[in-house]
Amino acid sequence: MPALPDPGQPPLGPRHVAIIMDGNGRWAQARGRPRLFGHHAGAKRVRDVVRACPELGVKYLTIFAFSTENWKRTQVEVAGLMSLFRRYIAKETKDLFSEGVRVRFIGDRDRLDPKLVDLMRGLEEMTKENDLVHLTVALNYGSRDEVARATKLLARDVAQGKLDPEDVDESTLTGYLDTRVLPDPDLVIRTSGEARISNFLLWQSAYAEYEFVDTLWPDFSPEELGRLCRNYGARDRRFGAVRA
Ligand code: IPE
Ligand code: IPE
Ligand code: MG
Repeated sequence: MPALPDPGQPPLGPRHVAIIMDGNGRWAQARGRPRLFGHHAGAKRVRDVVRACPELGVKYLTIFAFSTENWKRTQVEVAGLMSLFRRYIAKETKDLFSEGVRVRFIGDRDRLDPKLVDLMRGLEEMTKENDLVHLTVALNYGSRDEVARATKLLARDVAQGKLDPEDVDESTLTGYLDTRVLPDPDLVIRTSGEARISNFLLWQSAYAEYEFVDTLWPDFSPEELGRLCRNYGARDRRFGAVRA
């Protein structure tokens, strides 16, 4: 169980913020433009939000870029998004590296284009010594898919005699997830006015605080992130316990 913060301390901001970046399509539609125009505008916001993290005390930022369900979109939109990811990584790698950002990807890579997977691996490798901000990009990520893949690995270890089923507890499963090296999110933000989780970090967010804001992702600003972080600091997280 996570330790309760010392009540004598000033309220702390979230150390790990996870964001469901939603509303790109509606943002473009409102301007009479194709959905991909919104995705391009959305990608530009990521940079400002990552840059704002150190000052806000946010050490871990996890962003939902493409879900396992997003393959259901038109071929034009999916291909456009994949090409945007490729170009975005190629263009941003140098700056992310020099700005001290460590980048990781979570999600199933098997269904992704090998060229994109190479770029992802390259960016992870290049930034692996960085420690200012840990940016995790969820790409072809779904929480249920992640738990299913983790269970498959766990079952394999049991079958091979490396793991005793009697020893399986919460931390064992946590250790097989894509997020195994990350702390749990403290604050999960969803933009665009939808109040749902859409299969994002279900296991990891069991005790997270949630913020649902109406802002469409391409309009989300570092100022709004700051406001949400301050809101978070004012909340009383009890983790099931009773505050004395
Ligand atoms: C979020 O914006 C980005 C992705 C899911 C890739 P949407 O594309 O879902 O935008 P809306 O929800 O249709 O406005
Ligand atoms: C969630 O947004 C996924 C991402 C932000 C990548 P969606 O727009 O795909 O979610 P639903 O369809 O509204 O639940
Ligand atoms: Mg959406």
